[in-house]
Amino acid sequence: MNESLTIAMDGPAGSGKSSVARRIAEKIGYLFLNSGAMYRAVTLLADRSKIPCTDITNLIELAHDCQIDFTDNGKITLLNGEDVSHLLHTPEIDKAVVEIAKIPEVRRAMVKQQRRIGKDGGIVVEGRDVTTVVFPDAEVKFYIDASVQERAKRRFLELQDKEVVCTVEQIEQEIKTRDETDASRAHSPLRPADDAIIVDTTDKSLNQVVDFIIEQIDAHT
Ligand code: DC
Repeated sequence: MNESLTIAMDGPAGSGKSSVARRIAEKIGYLFLNSGAMYRAVTLLADRSKIPCTDITNLIELAHDCQIDFTDNGKITLLNGEDVSHLLHTPEIDKAVVEIAKIPEVRRAMVKQQRRIGKDGGIVVEGRDVTTVVFPDAEVKFYIDASVQERAKRRFLELQDKEVVCTVEQIEQEIKTRDETDASRAHSPLRPADDAIIVDTTDKSLNQVVDFIIEQIDAHT
């Protein structure tokens, strides 16, 4: 495997792209970059600093002044050197991150950090705009998708594991709303890049998707 490729994957919430991207990175010995964790880390910082989602000026300053890094091949997110990985997937962060990720100048700050981490290639990066905006010259691009029903089912099972009380219908509605927000925002909306390979994971296991993607990467190199 060429050591310095950039492999970029975008897709909606619950499409399985994080699990897929992480597994691929492990298999081919590449760095894994979860760009959503960066937006979540800034959101956590805003919450701790008591800056509301409407205070754009201070949010921008916060985003420019913080440093986000990853260790243990993407498993650990460091916010200004502190491991915050276990604090990034709460319902409060889920709700607020959507608003913070809409702010163009916050996005510019995050894109700068993503490019810093990915500057030497040898990386599998996933998010909503990594194939279109962050790494438009990535050698191999994927758009990972699944039906809304399947994504809701996956998320529901995850939440049941955590003993969160909810219904599949509620989750499905939340996912639809999030899809609409991600796809309709003015800056860097979620959309498949023209040269992305579309992968529908609806009826596929993680292993099937990973094998398919590795075949596609091999075919491109
Ligand atoms: O992938 P995720 O659910 O952890 O992403 C968290 C939020 O950040 C989600 O609302 C979409 C947003 N995001 C983004 O706007 N651009 C990215 N490259 C990655 C995530």
